[in-house]
Amino acid sequence: MPKIPILLDGDPGHDDAIAWMLAAASPELEILCVTSVGGNQSIDKTTYNALRIMALLGIQAPMGRGGPRPLLSPAMTAPSVHGESGLDGPALPEPLQEPEALSAPALMARVIAQAREPVTLVPTGPLTNVAALLLAHPELKGRIKGISLMGGGIAHGNWTPAAEFNILADPEAADIVFRSGIPITMAGLDVTEQALLFPADFERIRAVGGPVAQVVADWLEFFYQFHRSMGYPGAPIHDAVAVAWLTHPELFSGRDMYVSVETAGRYCRGSTIGDPRGRLGMPANAHVLLGVDREGFARLLTQAVGCWKEG
Ligand code: RIB
Ligand code: CA
Repeated sequence: MPKIPILLDGDPGHDDAIAWMLAAASPELEILCVTSVGGNQSIDKTTYNALRIMALLGIQAPMGRGGPRPLLSPAMTAPSVHGESGLDGPALPEPLQEPEALSAPALMARVIAQAREPVTLVPTGPLTNVAALLLAHPELKGRIKGISLMGGGIAHGNWTPAAEFNILADPEAADIVFRSGIPITMAGLDVTEQALLFPADFERIRAVGGPVAQVVADWLEFFYQFHRSMGYPGAPIHDAVAVAWLTHPELFSGRDMYVSVETAGRYCRGSTIGDPRGRLGMPANAHVLLGVDREGFARLLTQAVGCWKEG
């Protein structure tokens, strides 16, 4: 099977890191570049984390650094979830490369323009870089096959009652992306809060053995601490859903619908409003994932960490 060329863009972040591990382990995917965006932590920290993850996983691709803040909003971070470093927990190798001189959107544009075929974007943080890319290079839209993103939630939010973190961090960017006309698969909270890994899964992953299995199990232990304190029975591996859908769509169920992004609203800024009944008369702009085979998802991640096991 020909590989799917993808661009990873994220704010690592424990679940971004696990998503990138899955992407690097997936024979169906070819990682053309990795870009950082501010979100879970500052752009300095997410960039450093991205480079360390690439060193750990042996991802051979150019890396681009995102800008200092969202399009209009001030930067917001999530140290309560991911720690002061943005990727607290296990020690990681130091970076083996520097970011390119190009900014993240400019690197994305170069990679897309030079790709042998249309590419798939896999953003798992705020959509600042993707929006900047589309604003600066509308001529490249035809070279983007689709966007498989983690963000939003039709039924509920997590950072506010109405809004999910990635969309709330940069609603203007999300609005630009959802209005772009590029096919979107939205892995929102509706599905990602079902994509849970339990402590028994952490131990199965650790038991696989090898350097990456240990690190991923440690990331899961740390990431679960916040969620356990919030009453979750396991850790929702939000970002890995955006990757898993590309390689194993059979694990998921979903529905096409028009999704609007609220950029105003005293209580609802950053919410993603789905219109499954077509009340607005707008054609669907997203395939919204709503269900997951959790066991299959957990098995996929467990198999993936084995790719780095010696022998
Ligand atoms: O709301 C969950 C999302 O916010 C995930 O992408 C997580 O990494 C954080 O960025
Ligand atoms: Ca993320």
